[in-house]
Amino acid sequence: MRVLFIGDVVGSLGRETVATYLPRLKKKYRPQVTILNGENAASGRGITGKIYKKFLQDGVDVVTMGNHTWDNRDIFEFIGDAKKMIRPANFPEGTPGQGMVFVKVNALELAVINLQARTFMTALDDPFTKIDELIEEARKKTPFIFVDFHGETTSEKQAMGWHVDGRVSAIVGTHTHVQTNDARILPQGTAYLTDAGMTGPYDGVLGMKKEAVLEKFQTALPRRFEVVETGRSILSGCVIDLDEKTGLAKSIATIQISDDRPFME
Ligand SMILES: [Fe+2]
Repeated sequence: MRVLFIGDVVGSLGRETVATYLPRLKKKYRPQVTILNGENAASGRGITGKIYKKFLQDGVDVVTMGNHTWDNRDIFEFIGDAKKMIRPANFPEGTPGQGMVFVKVNALELAVINLQARTFMTALDDPFTKIDELIEEARKKTPFIFVDFHGETTSEKQAMGWHVDGRVSAIVGTHTHVQTNDARILPQGTAYLTDAGMTGPYDGVLGMKKEAVLEKFQTALPRRFEVVETGRSILSGCVIDLDEKTGLAKSIATIQISDDRPFME
């Protein structure tokens, strides 16, 4: 089973980049499942029902979220019906939406889980306990399990990687918007990447207009950050191959498309 993951899609530039390159990526890699983090898709903050539907039309199978899940109020209108969207599973009991979803892949099934870290972020329920519960639930149906771990710090993500090694197929980090160069297969067979990186503006600061961010750092005064809507873009992600019998990972490779790393058919 081959899984394509696309990292944090930021604003209209990010969405356009997905629409442009997803067909070409699918042609090149032929993934059976495509997963995309969409928590920054609406002007950098949250997602709308319209954008969610467009991702599905573009060929995305599951949209994952993160700390910006609730930033666009439209979410409360459609999350209850959004069967292919997951938000961090460790939000408190009773939070709208779901944290895990199953995708059919011919005779097989892939469980996709979204989880949020806690260091330098809102302290949700303990993600280490939550993932144990979810793995137990998922493994009753399938050994194919993909985790998007949305977190700020490398250390918490690495620790989670070790925690789930051999029990999930792959765990890929999101949220920092910068792709890390540490894609690997952990000793017990789980594919690991600290952060998949961002899909969106190439010439901003994590997708925001650089001038306002620079001013904030230089003056320490509050500044309103706006997402970059025009100019160059980057697509970041990874492709993971899973063993059809065990569900464990055979390979993981990062993907980046930008002016500095042009797409090769
Ligand atoms: Fe985030």
